[in-house]
Amino acid sequence: MAKKKVLITGSSGLIGGIVHRGLADKYDISGVDIRPADGITTRIADMRDLDAIQPAFEGVDAVVDLAAIVQQDSTWDDVYTNNLPATYNTFEAARRAGVKRVVFASSNHAAGMWEFDPPYKHIVVGEYEGLDSKTLRRVTVDMPVRPDGPYGIGKTFGEATGRHYSDQYGISVLCMRIGTVNPEGRPTTVRQFATILTHPDLVHLVDRCISAPDSVRFGIVYGISNNTWRFWDIEGARKLIGYEPQDDGEQWR
Ligand SMILES: NC(=O)c1ccc[n+]([C@@H]2O[C@H](COP(=O)([O-])OP(=O)(O)OC[C@H]3O[C@@H](n4cnc5c(N)ncnc54)[C@H](O)[C@@H]3O)[C@@H](O)[C@H]2O)c1
Repeated sequence: MAKKKVLITGSSGLIGGIVHRGLADKYDISGVDIRPADGITTRIADMRDLDAIQPAFEGVDAVVDLAAIVQQDSTWDDVYTNNLPATYNTFEAARRAGVKRVVFASSNHAAGMWEFDPPYKHIVVGEYEGLDSKTLRRVTVDMPVRPDGPYGIGKTFGEATGRHYSDQYGISVLCMRIGTVNPEGRPTTVRQFATILTHPDLVHLVDRCISAPDSVRFGIVYGISNNTWRFWDIEGARKLIGYEPQDDGEQWR
C-alpha cells in the first residue's frame, strides 16, 4: 500500500525534526517553513501567505500543523501577526485541498491557568507532600480553557478554528495540548517531571493522531508522557486514539 502523504508545517523546528526522523519510514513526509532543514523536502514559504503555501497542501492525506512563534512569553503582536493567521491558513488551505485530517499543535498553555490553583501549583514546584499521584483529580479537556497569556489565547483560537472546520467542512481534526518537548527529551526543571513529553512518546502521539480512524471527527488530547506526577489527563487520549505513552519523567529523578 502507498504510504500516506503527510505535510508538516513548521517542519524545520524542534518538534518537526523529531517527528520527521521518527516517522519518515512510515509516511511520505514533506514540510513548509520559512527556513530550510536538512533531510526533509521543504517548501520555503510563510504560512501567512495562503497562495504561497497552497501548493504544499495539494494531494496530502494529513497535515501536522506546528508553525508558530513558540515562546510562552510571546507577545500579543507575535500571536496576532504570526500565529493566528498561520493557524487559520492551515485549516483554510487544508479545506481547499480536500485534506481529510489536520493535527493541530495546541499547548497546555490553552488551559495554563489551572496550574496556579491547588493542588497543581504545588506539583509544579515539586511539593508533593500530602498529595497522592494515584488519586489526583487531573485537568481534563472537558474543563474550561484558561489561557495563561497571548500564546495560550492563540492556541484556544486554533482549537476553536479546528472545531469549526470539522463541524462546517467535515475535516477530521485532532488538537494536541503538548506539555514540554525539549531537545534533551527528559525533565530539566522540577515542573517538567509532570509535563515532559519524551521524543518517543511524541512520535507515537503524532502517529496515533495521523492514523486514527476516520470516525474520529474532532478531539483535543493532552500530549505528555505517562508521568507519575502528571496533572493533565491522558485517559481521554488513550480512549480516543489509543495513545499509550511508554515513558515517565520519574525515570530521570
Ligand atoms: N516544544 C514544546 O514544548 C511545545 C509545547 C506545546 C506546544 N508546542 C507547539 O508545537 C509546535 C512546534 O513547536 P517547536 O517546539 O517545534 O517550535 P520551533 O520554534 O522549534 O518550531 C516552529 C517552526 O515554525 C516555523 N514558523 C513559525 N512561523 C512561521 C510562519 N509564519 N511560516 C512558516 N513557518 C513558520 C519556524 O520557522 C520554526 O521552524 C508549535 O506550534 C508550538 O506552539 C510546542
